[in-house]
Amino acid sequence: MPLTQRVSIVEVGPRDGLQNEPATIALEDKIALINALATAGVQRIEAGAFVNPNWVPQMADSAEVFAGISRLPGVTYSALTPNIKGFDRALAAGADEVAIFAAASEAFSQKNLNCDINTSLERFAEVAAAAHAQNIPVRGYISCVLGCPYSGKVAPQTCLAIAHELLAMGCYEISLGDTIGAGTAADTQHLLNCLLTEIPADKLAVHMHDTYGQALSNIFAALQMGITVIDSSVAGLGGCPYAQGATGNVATEDVIYLLDGLGISHGINLHQLMAAGQRICDKLGKRNNSKVTLAHNARTST
Ligand code: HMG
Ligand code: MG
Repeated sequence: MPLTQRVSIVEVGPRDGLQNEPATIALEDKIALINALATAGVQRIEAGAFVNPNWVPQMADSAEVFAGISRLPGVTYSALTPNIKGFDRALAAGADEVAIFAAASEAFSQKNLNCDINTSLERFAEVAAAAHAQNIPVRGYISCVLGCPYSGKVAPQTCLAIAHELLAMGCYEISLGDTIGAGTAADTQHLLNCLLTEIPADKLAVHMHDTYGQALSNIFAALQMGITVIDSSVAGLGGCPYAQGATGNVATEDVIYLLDGLGISHGINLHQLMAAGQRICDKLGKRNNSKVTLAHNARTST
């Protein structure tokens, strides 16, 4: 299959990237990050999460984040919403889009959502109905598609069944999360071979954490199978508080470099993106996890 000519990046750094940071991050730094990403050309930004603040304290100020950003036309600013309470908060904050997030493993669902998969799907159906009544698009996530940190292997058929449930609720797209970043390109192909028998490629996205350094090769495998939406996190920030040891998503900068090499357009200015990533790393006092930025910094510092 020929590769797509255009990829859409979903930047999850301000949410997935920052949610696991132990130290308090200044509101102005979160806002500056989102504004810098939009200015760099990112058109889909997950800006926060309206989850229980006792569970994920770092996202407690998402309403203030939404209130503080300078919205650019054509950019979608979205938020995670685990239940109707979260949806009401997201609506009040002015989120353009919401995301619901099911797990493909019972153990992870319990740890992340405090309920079993079926109960979570009932709550998500309520959120989706409320969102659609307000003309707010709903994105669906499935976590642990290539393995669960608590129960190990996950069958592609399980992911397929949950994807159907989320699509039936009206999700316009399903993002497939390798939450623990342990899957390989072969696992990605195996999963997509199963899903693509019943779900068109343009309804699927990939969300690869990079714990085992496999994210870019998984993304390439997905591109070869017709996937055109890629989630990533600037500077490779992040991890999930309920998947211990899992590192951040693949760095957006590194995905952009891959896409440039493949001649696939994406609309993002790599230099501005690298600057946005470096700035938040400096603010957090963290090493930048984008290999492309590290290589660029090494070359320009000599
Ligand atoms: P719970 O404690 O079972 O909720 O949490 P509850 O319904 O029993 O309510 C308990 C209290 O929480 C109540 O307050 C509620 O009002 C409050 P009280 O009456 O005790 O004062 N509450 C809320 N407050 C604010 N906003 C809300 C909300 N909901 C309840 N939305 C819940 C259940 C689902 C809320 C909780 O488990 C939760 O917040 N989970 C989210 C965890 C999370 O954010 N994880 C990280 C994101 S997922 C991820 O990273 C994976 C992903 O990137 C894809 C991948 O990598 O695979 C998406
Ligand atoms: Mg994630």
